[in-house]
Amino acid sequence: MNRSLGRLLHAAAPLAFMLAASVGVAHADQAAPALPQMGFNNWNSTHCRDEFNEAMIRGVADKFISLGLKDAGYQYVNIDDCWAYWKRGKDGRLQANPKRFPSGIKALADYIHQRGLKFGLYSSAGTSTCEPLEENRGFPGGLGHEKQDAATFASWGVDYLKYDNCNNQKIDARKRYAAMAEALRATGRPIFFAVCEWGENKPWLWAGKPPVDAGSWRTTGDISDNYASMLKIFKENVVLDAYASPGHWNDPDMLEVGNGGMTDTEYRSHFSLWAIMAAPLLIGTDLRTIKPDALQILLNKEVIAVDQDPLGVQGKQVSDANGIHVIVKPLKDGSRAVAVFNETGATRPAVVAAAELGLKGGASYEVRDLWAHTQVKGDGSLKVTLPAHATAMYRISND
Ligand code: GLA
Repeated sequence: MNRSLGRLLHAAAPLAFMLAASVGVAHADQAAPALPQMGFNNWNSTHCRDEFNEAMIRGVADKFISLGLKDAGYQYVNIDDCWAYWKRGKDGRLQANPKRFPSGIKALADYIHQRGLKFGLYSSAGTSTCEPLEENRGFPGGLGHEKQDAATFASWGVDYLKYDNCNNQKIDARKRYAAMAEALRATGRPIFFAVCEWGENKPWLWAGKPPVDAGSWRTTGDISDNYASMLKIFKENVVLDAYASPGHWNDPDMLEVGNGGMTDTEYRSHFSLWAIMAAPLLIGTDLRTIKPDALQILLNKEVIAVDQDPLGVQGKQVSDANGIHVIVKPLKDGSRAVAVFNETGATRPAVVAAAELGLKGGASYEVRDLWAHTQVKGDGSLKVTLPAHATAMYRISND
C-alpha cells in the first residue's frame, strides 16, 4: 500500500550581462566537504525488467569512464530494487538473485571499485522491499535484520545504501531508519546513507540529525519521466531549502534525463533545477545507449559546479509569479547562481530586478550563461525571453 503512495532549445535568449570568473569543475573526491552525491541508479530506466542485470551494470560502470562522466564528478554506480533473491539464505543472510547477478554482489562491487568508482545497493526499512514479486512474494527487507544486513553490505564492499519505506508495519520511521543508520556505522565502513521515505514523515526535520544522520532524504513520491511529474516534485522540494546543509541534502528523486518522456528543453530545466536545489545528481538512464543531446546535458560542467559548490547551500526561490520561478543559490566565491524557469506552456519574457537577486542596483556585474557558455556585463538585473518549460541559468559575480 505504501507502494501506491510512493509511485504514483535551449531556452535563454542570452541576456544583458557577463562573464563569471573561471567556473570550477566538480571532482570525484567528495569526502570533504560533503557535496550532493553524483552517480547512477538503474531504477528509472529499467525498473525490474530482465535487462537489469550484472552485464548492464558493468557496462554502465565502463561508460562512466569512456563518456567522461567520472571526470565530470559522477562517482556512485547504484543498483535498486530486485537485485536480491526472494528469500534469505539458511544463515539468514541476503543473497543476490542468481539469474541477474550470477557472479554475486561482491564481484560487482569489486568491478566498480577497480574503475575508481563507488558502489551502492538498495533495501527497505520494512519486512520486504517495494517491488512485489510474482506469487505474492516480496524481496526481503531490513526491518529487524539491520545488524546482519549492514554487516553483509560492508563485507560486499557497499559504499552507499538507499533505504526505502515499503512494508514498514507502521513502525515509527525515525526508529526504523535509526536502527539501520546505527548498524551501518557499527560496521566501521563508511557507507553513505540515503533515506527514501518519500517525505511522508517530514524527514527533512529529523533524517539529517543523529541518530539517523543521513546524507540525503527523499522529500517526495517517485518521479516519472514526464514534465508534469518533474514540475510537481520541483515545487515540493524547492520550498525546503532551509533544511539542507553540507552533507545533509533534500532529495527530489533521481534524474530522468535521457529517458525520452520530456523534450530536451524540459530535460535542461530538470537538470538546472536539480542543480540549483543542490540535489543529488543520480543519472537514471541507460548510459550504454544514451543519445548525445542527453549526455551533453548531464555533462554540463558549469551547471554541475552549481550543484557541487562547496558552500553547500540549496538555492532559494525568491519569486514564482505568473509561472516564472526565480531561484538564487549563493556560491563559495561570493558569486551567485540564478535559475529562471518558465513553467508555462507559452513563451514568456522574464524581468528580474537586481534587488530580487540580492544585488545592488546600479553596480556592474559579470553574468555568465551556463547553458550558452557566454558572458556579458550588466547592471544586476536580468531580462530574458524563455520558451515554454525552459530554464535559463546564470552565474553572476562582481565585475
Ligand atoms: C520506491 C522508491 C523508488 C524505487 C522503488 C523500487 O517506489 O521510491 O525510488 O526504489 O521503490 O521498488
